[in-house]
Amino acid sequence: MEKLLIIEDSKDIKTQLKWGLKKDYTLFFASSVKDGIAQFKKHSPKVVTLDLGLPPHEDTAEEGLRCLSEIIKLNPFTKVIIITGNSDREHALTAIERGAYDYYCKPINISELKIILKRAFHLANLERENRNLKERVNRRSTELCGMVGQSHEMRAVFDTIRRVATSDVPVLIQGESGTGKELAARAIHSLSMRSEGRFVPINCGAIPENLLESELFGYEKGAFTGADTSTAGKFEYASGGTLFLDEIGDLPLKLQVKLLRFLQDKKIQRIGGHEDITVDARIITATNVDIQQAIKEGRFREDLFFRIGVVTIKLPPLRERGEDIMLLANLFLSRFSKEFGKNVKGFSLEAQHRIKEYEWPGNVRELENRIQRAILLTDKTVLEASDLGLKSESPFTVSSKNYSGLTLKEIRELIEKDVILASLDRHKWNILKTAQELGISRPTLYELMRKYHIKL
Ligand SMILES: Nc1ncnc2c1ncn2[C@@H]1O[C@H](COP(=O)(O)OP(=O)(O)OP(=O)(O)O)[C@@H](O)[C@H]1O
Ligand SMILES: [Mg+2]
Repeated sequence: MEKLLIIEDSKDIKTQLKWGLKKDYTLFFASSVKDGIAQFKKHSPKVVTLDLGLPPHEDTAEEGLRCLSEIIKLNPFTKVIIITGNSDREHALTAIERGAYDYYCKPINISELKIILKRAFHLANLERENRNLKERVNRRSTELCGMVGQSHEMRAVFDTIRRVATSDVPVLIQGESGTGKELAARAIHSLSMRSEGRFVPINCGAIPENLLESELFGYEKGAFTGADTSTAGKFEYASGGTLFLDEIGDLPLKLQVKLLRFLQDKKIQRIGGHEDITVDARIITATNVDIQQAIKEGRFREDLFFRIGVVTIKLPPLRERGEDIMLLANLFLSRFSKEFGKNVKGFSLEAQHRIKEYEWPGNVRELENRIQRAILLTDKTVLEASDLGLKSESPFTVSSKNYSGLTLKEIRELIEKDVILASLDRHKWNILKTAQELGISRPTLYELMRKYHIKL
């Protein structure tokens, strides 16, 4: 049964409500603001009925309005129904302005009140459902920082990300350039208990050694010429959050020792400093080179490798992600089309073919860049292979080779969609002209467009 809190000081009315409503609701009673708030906190009812004239000021609405404000402050979604004498309708209206759901004038007719209560609970439940739904949708799309993938390989990656996020173990992310290493690191951070803390990225390969040391560990005043004030480094800055060390394979040996020490006892020293500083930061590292090779060549400490690589996530190259390529391509297409105010609706058949056969040495970043550039420069509604800079020497012909693994029906549909898109584009999306060119009726064209998800 739903819980209903009744805040009312008149004994008669309480008795009336008790007998009238006890079959439908679990009832809680209070006779003063203090008691009412205490009961509200204890039972969190979705609906409350509230008498405005409560002790010690039974003749004014002061106490009742105060009680209303308290309840709304505690939970703004509560449905408060004001029970009022005929004389203070005005106060009832004030109460509505301050967030009450409805009001009901005495004398009370139980069957009327029941209808109001029923509606209030119904609405409270609907709103709650709605909020939950919204939250779930938001959580799902932002959960992995917008990382997208349906392929078996990427699903495995997402599983690992979710699993390691909850602990504090160091994670090493490996993958070719542009495969989403930083994005994966951000996803781990945002799913972890540290998500309120900072995510601090630093590229160990892009900064000269001495500068990198002071960037990472900070320095005390006078540690070197130019060190005018004591300054905290990225480690300290990331305390309570996550430090993301990109291109970890490039970390100079001297700094590898300092990182190892941190991983062992969570302590660092600033340059020129003599005191240990305890830092609470999670370390995520990334590399696009083979660390084993660096270990063999003596450029990377093996003991550090074991420490940072407690968990290793391997991001597969884009060319090995199957259908994810087109999924991402379409995602970037609609994103940039919107961003640049263009009306690009899809890829030509040849473009799709070239996208799938291309090697993508720059992986997701390259795909994103090529589509962004193409959309920026195009006036067409369908992107061609040449717009993406993917025209190869060999002419594109529809041959059975392009379609291995597809059924004849699927191939026919692919070509049909392509032909329709191309014709629509030629005729600037004029339905009549397109239908004429294709030799079909307008309803048939609409039908086919619906089938292939082509929107005007
Ligand atoms: N699975 C994915 N879904 C959506 N966007 C992605 C995905 N993977 C990567 N991206 C996007 O691709 C771009 C490159 O990703 P990111 O910078 O994380 O790659 P990286 O591996 O760190 O690259 P680099 O080795 O060049 O530093 C970013 O814009 C990122 O948002
Ligand atoms: Mg990166």
